[in-house]
Amino acid sequence: MRVEAGAQTARDSDRVMGMIADVSDIGREEGRLSVALPYVQASYAVGEDLGLFPPSDDGPSARLMRLPVVPDARGKLSFIEGGRHVPFDIARVYYLYDVPAAATRGGHAHKDLQQLIIALSGSFDVKLDTGRFRRVVQLNRPNVGLLISSMIWREIDNFSSGGICLVLASMPYEEADYYRDYGAFLNACRS
Ligand code: TYD
Repeated sequence: MRVEAGAQTARDSDRVMGMIADVSDIGREEGRLSVALPYVQASYAVGEDLGLFPPSDDGPSARLMRLPVVPDARGKLSFIEGGRHVPFDIARVYYLYDVPAAATRGGHAHKDLQQLIIALSGSFDVKLDTGRFRRVVQLNRPNVGLLISSMIWREIDNFSSGGICLVLASMPYEEADYYRDYGAFLNACRS
C-alpha cells in the first residue's frame, strides 16, 4: 500500500483515490459522518496492492480489489466468480442508478453481510467507518471493486451523472441484518 499526499505517478483514469483518517482520538458527531475531520489522502494505482482499510486483517475491513479484464478490439470484458474473485458465494446482486448528485445512499452497517461494490459506470464516493477509523474512497473504474466486510458503516454519495453502483452481496436481503442507527452500531462495535 502506498500512502502519498496527492501523488500522481500514473494516469488519473487508472487511479483509485481515497482518503484516510484515524478518528480514534477525535471527537465525532453522532449520526451522519462529519467531513470536518483532518483527512490524509491516499492514492492507489490499479495493478499494485490496492490496499486494506484499516491496514490490518484483524476485525472489520475493506479492500480494493482489481478485477479481471479481457480486452480486445471490441472493448473490454470483466467477470466476477463467487468464491474466486470475492470470498463468498454471490447470493444477491443489486444496483443503484439514476441517483441525484445530492443524494446519499447507505447510512447503515451489516451484522453479517459482505459486499463487493463496483462503479459500473461513472463515479461515486464510499465513506467507510469502523467505529474507530474512517475513510473515503472514490470508485471510478469498472474493473475495481471495494470489498466491505460486515460491521462497517458506509455512506455512498457524490454520484456523477450516469453513475451506476453495482453491489454483489453474500446474503439475500434481510432487514434484521442491518444497523440503521449509528449509535446502535457504535455500541455493537464496542461490546
Ligand atoms: P437500502 O439498503 O436502505 O438502500 P441503500 O443502502 O442503497 O440506501 O434499501 C432501500 C430499500 O430497498 C429498503 O426499503 C429495502 C429495499 N431493498 C430490497 O428490497 N432488497 C435489496 O436487496 C435491497 C438492497 C434493498
